[in-house]
Amino acid sequence: MSDGNGIWVVDFGGQYNQLIARRVREANVYAEIVPYEKCMERLAEAGAHPSGIIFTGGPNSVYEDGAPGLPASFFELGIPVLGICYGAQLMAQVLGGKVVSPDFKEYGRVRIYRGPGSGPGNDTSSILFDGIDLSDAYCWMSHTDYIERVPEGFAVTSRTDNCPTASLEDAARGLYGVQFHPEVHHTPFGQQLLRNFLYNACGCTGDWTMANFAKQKVAEIRETVKGRKVLCALSGGVDSSVAAVLTHEAIGDNLTCFFVDHGLLRKDEGDQVMEVYGRRFNMKIHRVNAADRFLSKLKGVTEPERKRKIIGEEFIRVFEEESRRLAAEEGGIDFLLQGTIYPDVVESGGGGGGAAVIKSHHNVGGLPDDMDLQLLEPLRLLFKDEVRAVGEELGIAPELVWRQPFPGPGLAIRCLGEVTEDKLKIIRESDAILREEIDAYNEALFKKLGARRYEGTTEEEKAVWQYFTVLPDIRSVGVMGDARTYDYAVGVRAVCSVDGMTSDWARLPYDVLETIAGRIVNEVPGVNRVLYDLTNKPPGTIEWE
Ligand code: XMP
Repeated sequence: MSDGNGIWVVDFGGQYNQLIARRVREANVYAEIVPYEKCMERLAEAGAHPSGIIFTGGPNSVYEDGAPGLPASFFELGIPVLGICYGAQLMAQVLGGKVVSPDFKEYGRVRIYRGPGSGPGNDTSSILFDGIDLSDAYCWMSHTDYIERVPEGFAVTSRTDNCPTASLEDAARGLYGVQFHPEVHHTPFGQQLLRNFLYNACGCTGDWTMANFAKQKVAEIRETVKGRKVLCALSGGVDSSVAAVLTHEAIGDNLTCFFVDHGLLRKDEGDQVMEVYGRRFNMKIHRVNAADRFLSKLKGVTEPERKRKIIGEEFIRVFEEESRRLAAEEGGIDFLLQGTIYPDVVESGGGGGGAAVIKSHHNVGGLPDDMDLQLLEPLRLLFKDEVRAVGEELGIAPELVWRQPFPGPGLAIRCLGEVTEDKLKIIRESDAILREEIDAYNEALFKKLGARRYEGTTEEEKAVWQYFTVLPDIRSVGVMGDARTYDYAVGVRAVCSVDGMTSDWARLPYDVLETIAGRIVNEVPGVNRVLYDLTNKPPGTIEWE
């Protein structure tokens, strides 16, 4: 990275810390999240200075007892700082300004004006607002306190009707602050403002691209592995697939993948994984056909958590057996490759670069104690959208790189009650029909919006994010060709979401729903009724079990 150590996003407990880091990376500058407690310690490490620092917002008031803070000396290091919301207030207070708690709170989309004083104006020169026209502009506010008086040396560069300091800067010292949130889409000039900070204030060049990342990682993996052997549990999901293709590019046949087919996959999924990664990418993959093993363990089990537990444990058993067999046949294995990505690292407390708590892989869940494998996690620094971009750089087909999430326990948690081969068949067939129809609907929508893929922005949130069928284990009476039927009902789940944490049921057009229901009833034997799930999350979860 020629942009030094990139940008640190110093976390004061704001809800947008990951979003800020993503926005910086969208401007092609590397960003990492550093908890504020670790900031001084990290700065003391030789050569660890970042090109710039962004303070996030946070839930506290700067004058509260025990509110998170940093010493005044921090601002004398010569590193450009951009404080956002709480971050701006903290900087102002530490440097001698005044932060107060006014009677009103400002929340939502708010008209913003350039410069201090009353009435609109565009007269104050500013590095942050370079090239940004505020003559008819809005920003996103969410605060209870504001900066009433800026510290000496600072100029007020914008305001709102209720907030006298919407932004402040002291360009000579490289210190900047904004009361609003430039990282959210509701501040339309926000990305330009962040770019001004990164390029004009911090002197970044913008060399963080996924092409550079892939090239650098391949060299790094080669250097780390040095001809030794790496093992990977490939699920066919985006993260493990991109990690495997990247590593294969670096070390070729020194990478061995296991693909455990637990018999709970979607229609043709197992064959597709083998075709793409085995044949097209020419990777060494062992397909372990363990469907019978999993189904016999699940026999008679109806309780959802038991199902999940059985599948997780059985997966580890298969993985253990296969890795031991491989070690016996081919000699020692030194590394285990995992598709850990940055949100996993941040959520498990590793964002500070200290000793990271390593989360066990969703699909592996645990490792044989006596195997003593080193972990290889080449995607540890990347957000999901960056992982997809690396996948595209490596030549993985868009339909695989952009695939919807699929749970580790597979169709077992979409088959309510006991899991049987007959019921799985109904889910597989109906799910394939649903996917065909919604994929076509999504494609048409992307075309209309001029969007490349599902990217989670406001307009595109209308696209369906995850969609599948479930078998609720109920049968009902119907009539087909003058004869009475007594068959299964299939549930259709289709949701709009950004990250799966919350979701809305998808407002699919009636004609799309009609086609889906008609095709499922006509084409899937054993089904005579189709139900559409109208539950949001919360209170429902996306999966039914
Ligand atoms: P829920 O059902 O909790 O799901 O609303 C949220 C998202 O997580 C996925 N999901 C899983 N993914 N292993 C996974 O890798 C699992 O056990 C699992 N359970 C749920 C679900 O598909 C949705 O996208």
